[in-house]
Amino acid sequence: MDVSNAMTIKMDEIFTTLPDMPDFEEGIRRAPKRPMPLNKGEIALALKNALRYLPEAWHNTLAPEFLDELLTYGRIYGYRFRPVGRISGKPIEQYKGKCVEGQAFQVMIENNLDFEISLYPYELVTYGETGQVCQNWMQYRIIKKYLENVTQDQTLVVESGHPLGLFKSAPTSPRAIITNAMMIGLFDDQENWERAMSLGVANYGQMTAGGWMYIGPQGIVHGTYGTLLNAARMELGVAEDGDLTGKFFVTSGLGGMSGAQGKAIEIANGVGIIAEVDLSRIQTRFDQGWVSQITRDAGKTFAAAKKAVAEKKAVAIAFHGNVVDLLEYAVDNNISIELLSDQTSCHVAHGGGYCPQGLTFEQRTDMLKNDPEGFTKKVDASLVHHYTLIKTLVDRGTYFFDYGNAFMRAVFDAGVTEICKNGENTLDGFIFPSYVEDIMGPLMFDYGYGPFRWVCLSGKESDLLKTDQAAMACIDPDRRSQDRDNYIWIRDAQKNKLVVGTQARILYQDAMGRVTIALKFNDMVRKGEIGPVMLGRDHHDTGGTDSPFRETANIKDGSNIMADMAIQCFAGNCARGMSLVALHNGGGVGIGKAINGGFGLVLDGSSRVDDIIRRAILWDVMGGVARRSWARNEHSMETCVEFNDMCKGEAHITIPYLTDEKMIADLVDKKYKK
Ligand SMILES: NC(=O)c1ccc[n+]([C@@H]2O[C@H](COP(=O)([O-])OP(=O)(O)OC[C@H]3O[C@@H](n4cnc5c(N)ncnc54)[C@H](O)[C@@H]3O)[C@@H](O)[C@H]2O)c1
Repeated sequence: MDVSNAMTIKMDEIFTTLPDMPDFEEGIRRAPKRPMPLNKGEIALALKNALRYLPEAWHNTLAPEFLDELLTYGRIYGYRFRPVGRISGKPIEQYKGKCVEGQAFQVMIENNLDFEISLYPYELVTYGETGQVCQNWMQYRIIKKYLENVTQDQTLVVESGHPLGLFKSAPTSPRAIITNAMMIGLFDDQENWERAMSLGVANYGQMTAGGWMYIGPQGIVHGTYGTLLNAARMELGVAEDGDLTGKFFVTSGLGGMSGAQGKAIEIANGVGIIAEVDLSRIQTRFDQGWVSQITRDAGKTFAAAKKAVAEKKAVAIAFHGNVVDLLEYAVDNNISIELLSDQTSCHVAHGGGYCPQGLTFEQRTDMLKNDPEGFTKKVDASLVHHYTLIKTLVDRGTYFFDYGNAFMRAVFDAGVTEICKNGENTLDGFIFPSYVEDIMGPLMFDYGYGPFRWVCLSGKESDLLKTDQAAMACIDPDRRSQDRDNYIWIRDAQKNKLVVGTQARILYQDAMGRVTIALKFNDMVRKGEIGPVMLGRDHHDTGGTDSPFRETANIKDGSNIMADMAIQCFAGNCARGMSLVALHNGGGVGIGKAINGGFGLVLDGSSRVDDIIRRAILWDVMGGVARRSWARNEHSMETCVEFNDMCKGEAHITIPYLTDEKMIADLVDKKYKK
């Protein structure tokens, strides 16, 4: 068959001459070897799968090269097809395209792969150890080609990184629909996913990596800032309008998401120590000004923190070393820690996300490659010890919370059943709170506050400044403490120098806040005051994610093992015409443990987009609030009552009747004797 002639969008134009193997730039982080569980027959299948993107004439050259990649790295990345040099999100007009959305998505993808942003740019990993834009560089090139060609009447379909093609739709349909790692239930586990990844038929999108809406570590700074402020208010007696002045936080991780912690601590005026084993990641955050000191000695680190607390100075100290060593020092020397958390990548603890005590970062990489079984044992032993240290600190008065990195789950998987509330299994949750259960859920998601974000596609800083000011004018700081925190956040955003990569902003907002700001921005685009804007959000939000150990940890009606909400959110966003819609398996916590989705909406100043904002953004948030309300979450019920009143005749949410707790308990006690 003449495949080339069978395609009217000419892939030959991207695959004209076989590119040379590009050099790997020194100092750019590389992904560790991934598990490669394939047998001989499956290895042959993986090679055929990768080669089907490429003309037959190259197969004899590429087959041995791809085999080598598979055996060396556990994946076929097709390194040869990576464009030479740095990739970065450029001003939108520099991209070819037949519609603004096609150009906008190229800005977003390239921003996700920027050396400054991406965790392992050569392996297309944006953040979270394994979160990829797509599986390989052939897919990247074809996606780009399709985005240059997609029209207002078509939709690009991307299945686990594979660009299936362009299909006819309508201007009011999404321009791209993306799914990642949506595995069949029976096979929905880490082992089968690793097999599927090696075969080249699955992609782990994390949240915004495979959904192309990552905006660098800023994306998580605001959430971390809000979490820390509220943890201090709840646990340390800080006033509702107070901040972290004179308060002390210890944590770990300066990677993609975790890298936000230092900045958030300083913005909240507190003192923090962040342990990190990888010096290159510390250096990145130090160069950005997101941590202000680097230390290596635990004693000196705690002494520096103590001084800053006494002087009420805002300081983020990066401790180059293992968090377990740091906590061991605190326990042995009776050092008091007020707030404690962890953001190592425990969702892939055995796959390189967690560096066990006793190994340097470099030794961890070697052992992972050469002795994966021994590595797993070391990780488990370290996690058990890590847990024991935390327990001692908590007994001494520390407030520890799980920071959405599956730490408690990893400790349980390492054999510690006492970390479960029921001492046996995870069905009733864990003994330590997760930040969503205690803080983010009740104080943010239940009201609909979530990580709304935007990118000024012109690439102009002046556009971002205008949008910051416009958004600030939409917030009433006196409505709730959340609004006051958000107001302060956006007021100071420029000063806090949060941008890495494209001109982007994160701002937690509730449903109406997001709609109001989006309409305002679209009007500014219409009037020519700013260039086009890409709106979106993290999947880590009110309605986009079903994740019982994280986003839906505070759903207590038993439905936290269901994924209906995330799937409805995705389908509803497609139906209402978001420009880009994504649905993923496992984001944030690992395969089989979550279903999560997100969107992107390109503001082009049209009235068509005004309509999408009113329909889709309201749905995107309120679908989640409605489900939380149905689970009897108090603040969600209040929010839905207000919504029903506000949207009379246009929309309506079912509100639950509440039962008399005592009557039910007595009845069950009396009639059910087991
Ligand atoms: N809290 C949130 O809102 C949120 C959001 C997204 C992701 N997460 C989760 O947080 C985790 C971290 O995400 P990320 O994007 O920063 O991942 P990442 O892999 O980029 O960063 C984790 C960092 O931890 C370091 N590390 C690992 N083991 C260590 C140890 N024992 N001591 C000190 N440092 C160690 C690694 O070197 C790495 O830099 C993931 O599990 C992710 O799913 C949380």
